[in-house]
Formats: sequence, structure tokens, C-alpha cells
Amino acid sequence: MRKILIAGNWKMHKTQAETKDFLQAFLSELGDAPDERGIILCPTFTSLGVMSKNLHGNRVRLGAQNLHWEDSGAYTGEISGVMLTELGVSYVIVGHSERRQYFGETDETVNLRLKAAQNHGLTPILCIGETKAQRDAGETETVIENQLRQDLVEVNQNNLVIAYEPIWAIGTGDTCESTEANRVIGLIRSQLTNKEVSIQYGGSVKPANIDEIMAQPEIDGALVGGASLDPANFARIVNYQ
Ligand code: 13P
Repeated sequence: MRKILIAGNWKMHKTQAETKDFLQAFLSELGDAPDERGIILCPTFTSLGVMSKNLHGNRVRLGAQNLHWEDSGAYTGEISGVMLTELGVSYVIVGHSERRQYFGETDETVNLRLKAAQNHGLTPILCIGETKAQRDAGETETVIENQLRQDLVEVNQNNLVIAYEPIWAIGTGDTCESTEANRVIGLIRSQLTNKEVSIQYGGSVKPANIDEIMAQPEIDGALVGGASLDPANFARIVNYQ
């Protein structure tokens, strides 16, 4: 069954103290969001521990923003799946465009990270999406298909979430039209062997546009950056109408 998943990607924001403050405010703002809506928060590595402790017994699931494919070794600056599961992490973002753009992530390393996540019982959230130049050149479909083909080699589609994040819509306020996001997400689904994979939209999701986005039939949730840093905004997004 396709699950509704609303995830906050905090990127490189919030100290441990700020994380605690956020949680207190967010949990009180959340109200009675319907049970079938999964809520995931992906803080920085340094805030995973404090979030894990403070989430005890509530419905929010913990996500990380990356993992390495080896369990341990000489990989300065990296974190492994075994380290994440020890902290109570359930989800992990893999292949975010910022990792691909600034940190040399390739489809090959994305594939290794996806398989490592699954080997540790984590559910990876695979991010894919085209640049503005690729969209303008009419290459959106080809880019998406190539990413899926390379990233998903030997990946178990029964334990997978995908986020369609058009790069030109990330952090720009320039949201992809909801009908266009719906169309591309339909295309992504058509490439999958498991049609029940939850596919999120990400890119300038806000309280003002979440209702329209979630009204689209192919869209199963959202991966929210900037607007997830504010407890009231993120609670409103989870409580979309
Ligand atoms: P914004 O919501 O800030 O555009 O970021 C989207 C994103 O990159 C989530 O992973």
C-alpha cells in the first residue's frame, strides 16, 4: 500500500538545543494529524541522538541525511548504517541533489548507499530530479529514467521511498506546478516494478501550497526543506487539508 509520508530535511541547520526546542513546539502544534500520515524528521547527524531521546513514544520517525556503504573503515567524515540504527534511525535520505552537486555523489555511489541502507533495515529516501538547464532542454524524462535505472540496480523496491525534487525548485520559492509534479511522479512510478512505492514531491513546499500538492493523485507525500525548520509551518504541512 502506498503510504503518505511527510518528511522534514533540515539540511545543515539546528544545534541540539534548537532541536529540543523545535520538538517541544512541533509536538504541541501537531494536534490530531490523521494516523495514516507518516511523519519523518531528518536532522543533522549531531542532532540524531537528542532527537531520538526526545521522540520516545510518539509517532514521529527519525531519518538521517546520508550514510556510507561500508559499516566501518578509513572514511573520514562519513557515518555508517550500523551507527544510524543504534540511534533509532528508521529512514535515510540518499542522493540528495546537494550531495550530488557539492560533494561528488554519483549514481554509482547512490546505488551503493541505497543497498547499504536496506542491508541495515533502514528505508532509503532516494532523491532524483532534473536541473533547470535539463528541463529547458526537454531532457526531464531522460534524466529521471537514467537516474532510476542506475540508482536502483539490485535495490529492493519493497523497502524504498522516492522523492522527486526538481533541482530548480529547491530553496528557490519556485515550486513545480502540482500537475507537472504529478505527471513526472507518474512517469517515475511507471518505471518501477513495485507500483506501491511511496513517491514524494520536494522543492519549495510550504503551508500555502501543500494542500494543492497533496490533492494530486500520484503524489504520496512531501520532502520539505526550509519550511520544516519552523514548528508551526511544519505542523501545518503535516495537517494538509
Ligand atoms: P526546500 O523545501 O527548502 O525547497 O528544500 C527542498 C529539499 O531539498 C528537501 O530535501
